[in-house]
Amino acid sequence: MDKLVIEGGTRLKGEVAISGAKNALLPILAATLLTEEPCVIKGAPNLRDTNTMLRILRSLGKNAELNKGVVTVTSTKYKNFVADYKLVSTMRASFCVLGPLLAKLKKAKVSLPGGCVIGIRPVDLHLKGIKSLGASLSIESGYVVAKADRLKGSRIYLGGICGSSVLATDNVMMAAVLAEGKTIIEAAACEPEVIDLACVLVKMGAKINGFGTPIIEIEGVKQLHGAEHTIIPDRIEAGTFMIASLITKGDILIKNVLYQHLGAVIDKLEEAGAFISRTDSSVRVRFKRRLKPINVTTLPYPGFPTDMQAQVMSLMSITTGISVITEKIYPDRFMHVAELNRMGAHIQREGPHAIVEGVKELSGAPVMASDLRASACLALAGLVARGKTSVSRIYHLERGYENLEGKLQDLGAKIWREKE
Ligand code: EPU
Repeated sequence: MDKLVIEGGTRLKGEVAISGAKNALLPILAATLLTEEPCVIKGAPNLRDTNTMLRILRSLGKNAELNKGVVTVTSTKYKNFVADYKLVSTMRASFCVLGPLLAKLKKAKVSLPGGCVIGIRPVDLHLKGIKSLGASLSIESGYVVAKADRLKGSRIYLGGICGSSVLATDNVMMAAVLAEGKTIIEAAACEPEVIDLACVLVKMGAKINGFGTPIIEIEGVKQLHGAEHTIIPDRIEAGTFMIASLITKGDILIKNVLYQHLGAVIDKLEEAGAFISRTDSSVRVRFKRRLKPINVTTLPYPGFPTDMQAQVMSLMSITTGISVITEKIYPDRFMHVAELNRMGAHIQREGPHAIVEGVKELSGAPVMASDLRASACLALAGLVARGKTSVSRIYHLERGYENLEGKLQDLGAKIWREKE
């Protein structure tokens, strides 16, 4: 297993191009199960999670290949309706094959994904939605078994205790596109990744209105056809490079970004004192003066994304003053706190809050990544820490950041891989 080693202290400068959004791509790959016709998805990042989803599609009978950022999914035959535990348990997004498999094959058996380090992460909203469409559901040996001769459109409220659910909205929307009659999803997630999926489904012949708002209306159709689509840029990767610029007192031009997707992040970083300029497809982030502490609360889109919480905590850990970071999506997503404290940060966790008392400097240390965004947070801290930081378990990073170390190296960072 590899670890990432970072020698802190370099100001990052230059340009970086953002890859396609992982969280848009994964459900879109699941959507290709809704048709026998070929689908071509461009701008696909080469990630561990991308490859897991391609393996799932292959296990179900599709030919699915990634070549130079283009995924091609073909094959008219489905050889299976079972999404196996070994694959689903490694990546929660794979639970999204439930809706399309059921809609297309009238039955689906998909392993329950289980919990993960950022919290329990239930799937009750997925199941509620699929059941409302008329499917019979049972849990057998850790698998959800769903059956329905033809799904029937319905009115479904998908709000949960922490707000709307991205993947539940995706899953139910994908099932409803082939259902008989009209489906109305209330309290739907409004994330840009949900919009990107809806755009692909529309290109495939689905009739969907209201995506990007909390009420999505779907008029079921009998069948869908193939489509070609380019994935939106990854707003979380872009946000991570914005923080990389600020934490190293740098100046980075981040290309292939839709700044409209980063409203809450830009707003908070400007409040802290960042200089941010935007064009239609790029954002330049400059450090010009000492930053101020900020309070951040994560919320569903268009609020501040939970997937940027750990990274902003790195930045606040070396920003003089007290910042309060409140996590409202995954109240237990704080595994990075102890690791940042190993590097000399002063962060105290109190329930869903982290109280960050900014210190003058961090010192490099061996730290352990617990999940994808925690890994990014530790790499960011390493960029500014005195001395060497080694981040182990970097397979988490490989799940969601395409060539992070190469991109950071191009900006001047001293970062490399070593065997553990
Ligand atoms: N929830 C339920 N019941 C459900 C589903 C979710 O109570 O059936 C709760 C969750 O426990 C959480 C909240 O609803 O408190 C929101 O979870 P959501 O379902 O929106 O999360 P998700 O769809 O499983 C996606 C992203 C996550 C991201 C969240 C929130 C993908 C593949 N994953 O997960 O991304 O944190 O939305 O924006 O799209 C990441 O990329 O690092 C990552 C974890």
